Amino acid sequence: MPKNTLRRNIEHEGWGQLTYEIREIVAVGKTLEKLGVKITWENIGDPIQKGEKLPGWIKDIIIDLVSEDKTYGYVDSQGVIETREFLAEKINQRGGYQVSANDILFFNGLGDAVAKAFSFLKREARVIGPSPAYSTHSSAEAAHSGYDHLTYELDPEKNWMPDLQDLENKIRYNDSIAGMLLINPDNPTGAVYPRTLLEEMVGIARKYNIFVLCDEIYAHIVFNHAETTHLSQVIGNVPGIALRGISKEFPWPGSRCGWFEIFNQDKHPVFRRYIKGLRDAKMLEVCSTSLPQYAIPRVMGDPRYIGHLNDRKAVFQKRANEAYDIFSQVKGIVVTKPQGAFYMSLLFKNGGLNGKQVLKIDNPEVRAYVEEKIEDVEPDKRFVYYLLGATGICVVPLTGFCCDRMGFRITLLETEDEKRVWTWKTISRCIENYLSSA
Ligand SMILES: Cc1ncc(COP(=O)(O)O)c(C=O)c1O
Repeated sequence: MPKNTLRRNIEHEGWGQLTYEIREIVAVGKTLEKLGVKITWENIGDPIQKGEKLPGWIKDIIIDLVSEDKTYGYVDSQGVIETREFLAEKINQRGGYQVSANDILFFNGLGDAVAKAFSFLKREARVIGPSPAYSTHSSAEAAHSGYDHLTYELDPEKNWMPDLQDLENKIRYNDSIAGMLLINPDNPTGAVYPRTLLEEMVGIARKYNIFVLCDEIYAHIVFNHAETTHLSQVIGNVPGIALRGISKEFPWPGSRCGWFEIFNQDKHPVFRRYIKGLRDAKMLEVCSTSLPQYAIPRVMGDPRYIGHLNDRKAVFQKRANEAYDIFSQVKGIVVTKPQGAFYMSLLFKNGGLNGKQVLKIDNPEVRAYVEEKIEDVEPDKRFVYYLLGATGICVVPLTGFCCDRMGFRITLLETEDEKRVWTWKTISRCIENYLSSA
């Protein structure tokens, strides 16, 4: 046997599919930081990192919990029963599908939930998801299958709504598709889907006997006249799972706490077995993080919680409109006003990028590094690297979201008003300079 070789090849077909552009760009940013560039991190959806403070009363609840001995122990594998009962009641109050505590399953954040949801699916069973995609979903699905993720188009000409014809055609002609995924409100577009559209999507799922996964982590971050319709309100008799969490809503991303709301597990034997598989897997792990689960009923059940959510909606609405006002003045890009979550996708107009454009970078070392990085990259990534080298602003290229369209995602998270406006105006100026440079 040759030296340095394992006797068995341990390579999984899915390895090549595990990409997470949102964090990969960080390595480039870190190198530039060492070369003296001051980086403005606009790549990650972490409100805490961008300066948001949890309200004092939420911290007080968590402080009280930390002094209770029980919060240091294991909890029920499916999740703390009082918390599941509390959430079930909340879901049932919306009307629509009625759940019990047994339809809630806790995970260590939705990242963990998504990894499990795909890894316990039969390998040949595919789930079609939106393009642009959120990388955690698309990579996990692709890694599970060993093939590229299957996608349907979100249409930037129609406020990034799903192209239902494209979705239905792809499902009709590919019988390996066993499920459809949607994110509502959406990352990275900021779109919020109206009830009628969700009903049509569920109708397609019903027609082709497939299940629905709906990521609702941003369900309570909606503004500009949008309201979230939950999957539970439209699912009817179709098997489905809504994905919820507190990372974005409290916001407490470091809690690593998210959960599934499962609909119609009693009506579909195969779906029931799939859910049982997920529950058994959780049992092998013992349980998910306990402290945040104890916090949920106390925080969400507090009379101040609605006010907290409304305050945040107002903040993100203001920032979304501010970003829209700035970017809609910029020639060469298409912008859509977000209605939910805290992202915005900016698209370069077709044919706008030619692979020769540049931004001026004064520091020769930084310029050399950027020029090395841009060899053989997608045209939007090329812009993103130049922007990073020239200004230190770190955004994520749209082609990193399983998408053929050229553009990039910004966040609405910067809490310092001056810095936020500086960031957006600087990006605007760079787009114009870049597009007119060659
Ligand atoms: C759509 C979506 N789902 C899930 C997650 C991950 O959430 P968690 O912190 O619960 O793992 C994110 C994080 O950015 C997200 O944008």
